[in-house]
Amino acid sequence: MSEINQKLRFDGQVALVTGAGRGLGREHALLLASRGCKVVVNDLGAAYDGTGQATGHVADEVVAEIEAAGGTAIANYDSVAEGEAVVAAAISAFGRLDIVVNNAGILTPETWSELTLESWQRTIDINLTGVFSVMKAAWPVLVAQQYGRIVMTASPAMFGAGVAAYAASKAGVVGLANSIQFEARKLKLDIKCNVLVPSANTRMTRDFGEAVNERRESLGKKRVRGAPEEILNRLSPDKVSAMVVWLAHAECNSEASIHEAGGGYFSQLHWARSAPVYATEVEGVTAAPLPEHVQQGLATLADFEHGDMPPSGDGSMGGPSPLARVLDHIKPDKQ
Ligand SMILES: NC(=O)c1ccc[n+]([C@@H]2O[C@H](COP(=O)([O-])OP(=O)(O)OC[C@H]3O[C@@H](n4cnc5c(N)ncnc54)[C@H](O)[C@@H]3O)[C@@H](O)[C@H]2O)c1
Repeated sequence: MSEINQKLRFDGQVALVTGAGRGLGREHALLLASRGCKVVVNDLGAAYDGTGQATGHVADEVVAEIEAAGGTAIANYDSVAEGEAVVAAAISAFGRLDIVVNNAGILTPETWSELTLESWQRTIDINLTGVFSVMKAAWPVLVAQQYGRIVMTASPAMFGAGVAAYAASKAGVVGLANSIQFEARKLKLDIKCNVLVPSANTRMTRDFGEAVNERRESLGKKRVRGAPEEILNRLSPDKVSAMVVWLAHAECNSEASIHEAGGGYFSQLHWARSAPVYATEVEGVTAAPLPEHVQQGLATLADFEHGDMPPSGDGSMGGPSPLARVLDHIKPDKQ
């Protein structure tokens, strides 16, 4: 990588970082503040799984760190479930809001077979409805400014994990990000909404690991050995925040893109569509395809080399999409 001469700055801008009292959110807040951004450090001080009483105070510690380094920040202790209150804190302290980093989250440890409706609901309420709540309150501010940068926090768990409620909530955040970007495009506003898929050694991953081991012990099973210290150090949360800060910057034009970050590694994830099987052409456009057409087409459905990568957030499903081609066949003037 070449030498960095000019640093990306955020002077005059205001960022809200939810769940910024510790872990990843804390690092995002510190890095933004070090680049001249005023920061609202939101965190109610929850247990990693959202149970028990909120402890407060963590946000004040991060604010003190930011101020000691010459930055500007305020603490806010409302839950993301109270999005109006969280956003009102930003506006009343700084009079504007340019960046929303939706980072707050909880991880309920139950596997699919153990999952209860209560645990499912608790996870969805914070990880998905909490983002909804904050974004509903922030949206009119961003629209009025005709500008905004939004970062959502998903998880590698969305590809499938033991923690089903968590995985579902994080996959939901991706759909929400795509739709918020779609809305911003429709309004032709300079609002960009992107998704972070982080990996880091934090309180969440440590407490989760301990909960898994306690459960194994209670079932008479051996504890799972954690990763060695040098790996955990490599996965410190400060290795992730550069991606968030880039996605939060005015120069970032990405829209509804999904980026992994962890241990100093970054990548972009994309939808991939295989080459299409046009069973309607076999049977005639009005005939319903048969399951055997799908079976016969399996090799084509595995052929991604001749497929495409539909973009997120523009509502086009990629153009011209195979569905558009099929629908084109049944337009009245084509029959
Ligand atoms: N650590 C990882 O490897 C990892 C991987 C994938 C996704 N994530 C996601 O990254 C985000 C940050 O995770 P972390 O590892 O730093 O976790 P963490 O538990 O260390 O920190 C999360 C913070 O969010 C706060 N919080 C919880 N509920 C809240 C609420 N209702 N309102 C406001 N604040 C609330 C907690 O008090 C805590 O300080 C989460 O959304 C998590 O799901 C983390």
